[in-house]
Amino acid sequence: MKFDTPATNNPIDRQTVIGKATDRIDGPRKVSGQAPYAYERHDVVANQAYGVIVGAAIAKGRIRSIDADDAEAAPGVLGVVSWSNAGTLGKSDSHTAKLLAGPDVEHYDQAVAIVVAETFEQARAAAKLLRVDYARAPGSFDLEASKGSAKAPKPDDPQKDKNNTSVGDFAGAFARAPVKVDQTFTTPDQSHMMMEPHATIAAWEGDKLTIWTSNQMIAWAVRDLGQTLMVPKENIRVLSPYVGGGFGSKLWVRSDAVMAALAARAVKRPVKVALARPQIMNNTTHRPATIQRVRIGAGRDGKITAIAHESWSGDLPGGGPETATAQTRLLYAGANRMTATRLATLDLPEGNAMRAPGEAVGLLALEVAMDELAETLKMDPVQLRIVNDTQVDPEKPQRQFSQRNLVGCLRAGADRFGWAKRNPVPGQVRDGRWLVGMGMACAFRENMNQKSAARVGIDGKGVVTVATDMTDIGTGSYTIIAQTAAEMMGVPLDKVVVLLGDSSFPASSGSGGQWGGNSSTAGVYAACMKLREAVAAKLGFNSADAVFEGGKVRSGNRSVALAEAAGPSGLSAEDRMEYGDLAKTYAQATFGAHFVEVGVDAATGEARIRRMSGAFAAGRILNPKSARSQVIGAMTMGIGAALMEEAVVDKRFGYFVNHDMAEYHVPVHADIPHQDVLFLDEVDDKTSPMKAKGVGELGICGAGAAVANAIYNACGVRIRDYPLTLDKIIAGLPAMV
Ligand code: MOS
Repeated sequence: MKFDTPATNNPIDRQTVIGKATDRIDGPRKVSGQAPYAYERHDVVANQAYGVIVGAAIAKGRIRSIDADDAEAAPGVLGVVSWSNAGTLGKSDSHTAKLLAGPDVEHYDQAVAIVVAETFEQARAAAKLLRVDYARAPGSFDLEASKGSAKAPKPDDPQKDKNNTSVGDFAGAFARAPVKVDQTFTTPDQSHMMMEPHATIAAWEGDKLTIWTSNQMIAWAVRDLGQTLMVPKENIRVLSPYVGGGFGSKLWVRSDAVMAALAARAVKRPVKVALARPQIMNNTTHRPATIQRVRIGAGRDGKITAIAHESWSGDLPGGGPETATAQTRLLYAGANRMTATRLATLDLPEGNAMRAPGEAVGLLALEVAMDELAETLKMDPVQLRIVNDTQVDPEKPQRQFSQRNLVGCLRAGADRFGWAKRNPVPGQVRDGRWLVGMGMACAFRENMNQKSAARVGIDGKGVVTVATDMTDIGTGSYTIIAQTAAEMMGVPLDKVVVLLGDSSFPASSGSGGQWGGNSSTAGVYAACMKLREAVAAKLGFNSADAVFEGGKVRSGNRSVALAEAAGPSGLSAEDRMEYGDLAKTYAQATFGAHFVEVGVDAATGEARIRRMSGAFAAGRILNPKSARSQVIGAMTMGIGAALMEEAVVDKRFGYFVNHDMAEYHVPVHADIPHQDVLFLDEVDDKTSPMKAKGVGELGICGAGAAVANAIYNACGVRIRDYPLTLDKIIAGLPAMV
């Protein structure tokens, strides 16, 4: 099915199940420990051996030799696999650095070998006996130092058009603007820190490989494993029905999967591997650090006449930039504008997507610059955003937004939060030892759709079963897919079974880029439409006026139970939703406004969140309960970005020093008080028949900037170097009495 015109007579619009706050259907399985995660799947294949990955102890250079004699002789050891005996590996589409080093080492903790033993303890002990002799080469590890050599994208690079843009005459308009802001911001490297580490069980049966793993994108995993192991993809099955968080770290298979597969082939046993928490930061991907310059010129009425956003980031050779300028192309009006991304070559671990790549860090700069502009103008920051709203793509004014109610978010959010009580002069509000301030920022995240397929069947008992390789990474996919099938087929939720995360099912959108919710349910919609036609055809009904309701299908005065219609052998249909021109004709995005109250300890500079509130517009909210969870989780991540998260680079040796959860700080419950989330009541009929948009990443976008702006309002200290830790705040605090 192709979506190229808004759907009319749409069963989803009934909203009897869709749009209702619904508990997770997988919740009971999860809380009772019956939802098995990859490493726990002791029962799927017999005789599992344990693999422990040894990572490179240098960031760049070459492996001279590997002495595995002692490791191989250690108790219980079944084998050691490294580049010297792994055979040839292919280059996959997705990986900048290889997932097994050798002889070249491309980054610190890149997998050098896997040691396999009967037990985990034996494998771990033997891994310590492996002796690797390296020839270390000098590398570049410092973004600031490499900024001068950072390059614009090549002319044939798709990024060139995407985030390197110029419209009108920015330089001239900025020079003439009566009010200006010109500031530079820095954001550090960040790590996903999902709860479940990367983990895989790999088993070969002849030349067929099965992988039980933790992955967001099943079809990509099959493709990349096929390319890397040089195995036809028909011979690879990937299963990932439960994922304990991803945030982008599991968009692509990592070394756990490739090394488990290589090890299982070598020792002729199934092998299970988990990356230890301290390996994840340097072995896998991270969100790259940025340096961002934002220039905004405005008239005295606050209207932006010139806006420019440039971003510098680094990656391994062949990698890509952090697209931190993305939102600046679409968020505010202004005739003269430019954006630019510049990429430096760094020999740190691979930089890649982390929740809302681009906007999450881009808004940390843009929305603080807007706060600075508001202050310079002596204008309310909410009002400044309202006067600069646009209903069209500012670069291509003939292109409209599919729907855009940013102003509604600003007004409703300000109202609920009590923004009118804010004192615009910093440092004026005191509560005991706390300096109290309020800040706000806009949320903006692109809405992307991906083609997505599903198979839906009805059995002789009237049970509807959906199968798709979609993943549920904690987002609630199981539930919204069940709601979609229930709505479409007119059955109660408890008559729907959802099967996910198996490459033997039709290929879905997967979970990434906040496209999974809208795209995967649209694929289920397509399959259900086809199934409805099959049911109607079988009964001799006209499918256009057949009504599916209450477990029955009705046409005129005939009504037949679905169970009966399906018959003992059942009925099933498969289809895929694809997108025509609507997705290109309209700019599609999700919007919001964050409001935060913070306290800054007048003596220590410690910043604490006191309350946080946001209003969001993201099309139809398929499940308000799981959507709220997505947004508060993302807001929490935004607080982490503002106040604590930083992967610290050892610039001498090229690795992230604080590589565990003791030293890489993320917010905990005590850091997060009540969060309030309002969704505007809207549907967006240009995005898909679901009329929904993504909501998984929107909440992180702008949240950290609202915190930074609140800190400024609390104490008058403006910090443009994230995270805003107390050492930086206290350095700017006047001596307070
Ligand atoms: Mo997302 S960073 O595409 O999982």
